[in-house]
Amino acid sequence: MGTLKVFSQDAAQCVWPARAELGEGALWVPSQGALYWLDIKGRKVHRLALEGGARESWETPLRMTALAPRRQGGFIAGTERGLAFYEPRSGRLERLLNPEPERPHNRCNDGKVDLAGRFWVGTMDDHEEAPTGALYRFDAQGHLARFDDGYTVTNGPAFSPDGRTLYVNDSPQRVTYAFDMSADGVPGGRRVLLRFEEPHGFPDGITVDAEGGLWIAFYAGGCVRHFSPEGEWLAEYRLPAAKTTSVAFGGKGLDRLFVTTARDGLDAEALAAQPLAGGLFELSPGVRGVEPVPYAG
Ligand code: BGC
Ligand code: CA
Repeated sequence: MGTLKVFSQDAAQCVWPARAELGEGALWVPSQGALYWLDIKGRKVHRLALEGGARESWETPLRMTALAPRRQGGFIAGTERGLAFYEPRSGRLERLLNPEPERPHNRCNDGKVDLAGRFWVGTMDDHEEAPTGALYRFDAQGHLARFDDGYTVTNGPAFSPDGRTLYVNDSPQRVTYAFDMSADGVPGGRRVLLRFEEPHGFPDGITVDAEGGLWIAFYAGGCVRHFSPEGEWLAEYRLPAAKTTSVAFGGKGLDRLFVTTARDGLDAEALAAQPLAGGLFELSPGVRGVEPVPYAG
């Protein structure tokens, strides 16, 4: 066992003190040189141009929970009402389908594109109580498949650099699952990779670095933690915001780590102690990420 490295919150730089209600969905778009992120409950999309630092924000017509660029331009989005194509600048929204019309209390949550250009998205009970969340794959031809079920809050998902392992969190259960992915994108062999205790907070968004290490944001944990592919806890990066929600590598060298945070549910005292809660932060992780692939459809 190595020694756990702990980085104080002084190492985290707030690059956008946006006061998001539920900052989420950090996403590097290499073709634009821009870092996008969402405020799910505040119904906004934010864009930060890494060169020059220009900031833009748009109101979303629905609560958006995950975004990924499409190969042909624009974005695919997970929303409170299923999947959609979306273009923030024009506001154009094309609703595609609701994966679970029989579960009206559910909404989409976190999503990610795999190496083959398929969009993966999880769902959750909007009240975060019932284990009615499931994991879906939406391919370039528009076929939807459900692969796992019974989550209270799906988070992650993320893929190993070779695409052969899928990681998914069930946040309230404080567990990170790993699955083996077949060549045609079918996950199997689910196992518990990591299990956490109450003081750790809830495992939320995941990203994977080029060496296969996992970077997980901890909601109510005020940090991002780094684990080896085998699940050894290597480092902890503290943030001055307890509700740490998502992580993404970005920048031309993919060597900058962006972290979203939330103000949601913090009382006046907590907000006074965490004035930067809801901001976008940057860390120097010392490793590189994997360039995200656009949705192929
Ligand atoms: C969800 C939040 C939830 C949090 C912790 C986020 O991904 O969008 O609604 O509170 O995870 O479970
Ligand atoms: Ca999340």
